[in-house]
Amino acid sequence: MLNKIITLNEYIAHKQKDFSYATGELSGLLQDIALAAKIVNREINKAGLVNILGATGSSNVYGEEVKKLDVFANDQFIRSLRTSGECCGVASEEEESFIAFENEKAKKAHYVVCMDPLDGSSNIDVNISIGTIFGIYRRKSKVSDICNLDDFLQKGRELVAAGYVIYGSSTMLVYSAGGKVNGFTLDPSLGEFCLSHHDIKIPKKGKIYSINESYKNSFSKSVNEFVEYCKTEDKATNRPYSSRYVGSMVTDFHRNLIKGGIFMYPALRNHPNGKLRLLFEGCPMAYLVEKAGGRATTGYTDILDVQPTGVHQRVPIFIGSEDMVEKVEAFIQKYESVSSL
Ligand code: AHG
Ligand code: MN
Ligand code: MN
Repeated sequence: MLNKIITLNEYIAHKQKDFSYATGELSGLLQDIALAAKIVNREINKAGLVNILGATGSSNVYGEEVKKLDVFANDQFIRSLRTSGECCGVASEEEESFIAFENEKAKKAHYVVCMDPLDGSSNIDVNISIGTIFGIYRRKSKVSDICNLDDFLQKGRELVAAGYVIYGSSTMLVYSAGGKVNGFTLDPSLGEFCLSHHDIKIPKKGKIYSINESYKNSFSKSVNEFVEYCKTEDKATNRPYSSRYVGSMVTDFHRNLIKGGIFMYPALRNHPNGKLRLLFEGCPMAYLVEKAGGRATTGYTDILDVQPTGVHQRVPIFIGSEDMVEKVEAFIQKYESVSSL
């Protein structure tokens, strides 16, 4: 039986009344993000042609400099948010400080966005999936003022929506605005994101572990023991698990969300908070995984309960299927009683 195609815009319009603040602003914001994602997707699809169309740093036919894709994505999302009238400011992995929009329409908006415009960017050159991650907060500052740092330094628990776009073998937008986690696949012929993955739930038990094991000499004893546990044969618990690590968090997370698994970027000896950013990568993904029935922790604290102190703050991350996250947490808490957070 053929099902009716439901586009992202139709879905958002239909669900608008379910949002915590049913003003339509959040709906508009999600639609603006989706539109910017389509433009970024179009450029990413051309990435392999860069050597014949003009390399980064060279000029295109209009005499404009060809931008790196992460800069292009950053500019595209910020431009879209700046003019949307639904967002009063943005913090981006690509920007040193947050950007407060100063136009009158933006100052009246209720939301701020935290984002990683292009995640896994080192994979662009080799045609591996990359992504965009975003989290949306309701502002704390007064409407009509220019937004300020406190609007961005909110715990992940305060998120009103979050999602990611994966530019992969097909391009998908996955998001939740407090309810279910839904996935929409871009139909290139229609130019529309169409509902393809309704009510995504992460399997409680997983079989995949994702970590960059080349850093094992810098991992804590407990993380190394958990990795060893994942590899140890045990029929009763379906081990050994499979190791999968793409090096784009969005891609590794997306696979584990659908199939069940755990993604880890732990503390390293010389990087006690790991590599990934709390506001741009940690919180949005933690929000989604919890809405999908999974968990995300630093090893001691749920990612969503960590109080941010700076926009570029990093955080150790263990995220995925509930049973696997609980297991690694137990290993960590057995050996290490003091958290750096
Ligand atoms: P970004 O491209 O936004 O800087 O993020 C890259 C991140 C993340 O996507 C990935 O999981 C991780 O870096 C990989 O890091 P390692 O190469 O250290 O494993
Ligand atoms: Mn990233
Ligand atoms: Mn990035």
